[in-house]
Amino acid sequence: MNTPLPISRRSFLAGTSALALAGGVSEVFAADETPLKVRAARKGLRMGAEVVPHLLGDAAYAAMLIRDVDMVVPGSALKWGPLERMRKVLDFSGADAVADFAQAHGMAMRGHTLLWHDQIPKWLPRRLANASKGPARIIEKHIDEVAGRYRGRMHSWDVVNEAIEPKDGRADGLRNSLFLEALGPDYIELAFRAAAKADPEALLVFNEYGHEWGWDAGRKRRLATLRLLEKLLGKGVPVHALGIQGHLAPGMKGAMDMPALGRFCDEVVQLGLSIQVTELDARDTSINGSIETRDRAVADAYTRFLEVVLARPATKMVLTWGITDRHSWLTNHFPRPDGDIVRGLPYDTDYVRKPVWYAMAAAIDAAPAR
Ligand code: G3I
Repeated sequence: MNTPLPISRRSFLAGTSALALAGGVSEVFAADETPLKVRAARKGLRMGAEVVPHLLGDAAYAAMLIRDVDMVVPGSALKWGPLERMRKVLDFSGADAVADFAQAHGMAMRGHTLLWHDQIPKWLPRRLANASKGPARIIEKHIDEVAGRYRGRMHSWDVVNEAIEPKDGRADGLRNSLFLEALGPDYIELAFRAAAKADPEALLVFNEYGHEWGWDAGRKRRLATLRLLEKLLGKGVPVHALGIQGHLAPGMKGAMDMPALGRFCDEVVQLGLSIQVTELDARDTSINGSIETRDRAVADAYTRFLEVVLARPATKMVLTWGITDRHSWLTNHFPRPDGDIVRGLPYDTDYVRKPVWYAMAAAIDAAPAR
């Protein structure tokens, strides 16, 4: 009797052609496990992942990254809150560990993120409200310190993250964040200009989610993003790329409007910007059924999404938000009703490739070169 294949391989085979199977399992996998970064490089793309700094010492975790990606981004270590829990005491240890890892393995590094309304220091709101020299100076100083430290070493920076929230009711669709309250909508311009000064070589990115949503919410998010980018570019603000996060929700009706995403990408390109897929994953939280069914739904979501974004040569990179289901924000933030872990990333909890890994490989192989 044959040894049963791991689930990830069995479910991949379910979608494999009879011709490929005729070549024998080992042959199929020997042919198909060319690392994602190698396949991406053939197309002029970079392949990246969000990493957790303290896990980089785990050889098996590091090995997955070394094999498949040529770009890393620390998930939380560069956010203002984790970085400066206590005022004036900046802890760069996590981000430095990622920078060292990237350098040791010839990878590029992204910075995430200079300004975000979430994961901010507890002391910051009061400090912004009471700043004697004005809140702008505080934000500029922060950006100068953080982006300046990695000057010349960052491929790109998410300068402003998730500044859009049409539900907040403003005509411009901007989020009513503490930064907006302190400085008005111009805080975005101020942040980009400060980042350009601190690190003139880094690509400066506006990073956002929900661009693939259907519903009225998706339409409003796309519109508000385009308006904002148009306005910034019109004023000569140094914005170079749009980060499309890509947190996909395949089981949810209307959560993936791919034609709308395609049209949106084209409009972004017309503005002269490049596109970065910055946080790709897909939750199986509302998918019922076997592991195979769930994995297939997640893989299909990646396929549909990547087909659209990679069809645009302006899309220069794809980063997943994590690499293994063992370490993913999804299980905590979108718990499954059955309590199982969410299987949204290319590798499972045992670091075995899942159907989504093969879906990524196929989507990259099918993409036009850029
Ligand atoms: O650090 C504390 C720790 O001291 C405490 O003991 C523990 C108890 O829960 O919490 C730890 O903080 C957690 C932090 O991640 C660790 O990095 C927070 O609870 C948890 O909420 C936080 O989640 C992060 C989330 O952003 C915050 O909204 C995720 O790790 C991070 O992956 C996620 O990343 C965001 C991107 O930055 C922006 N786009 C969406 C994406 C997913 O939410």
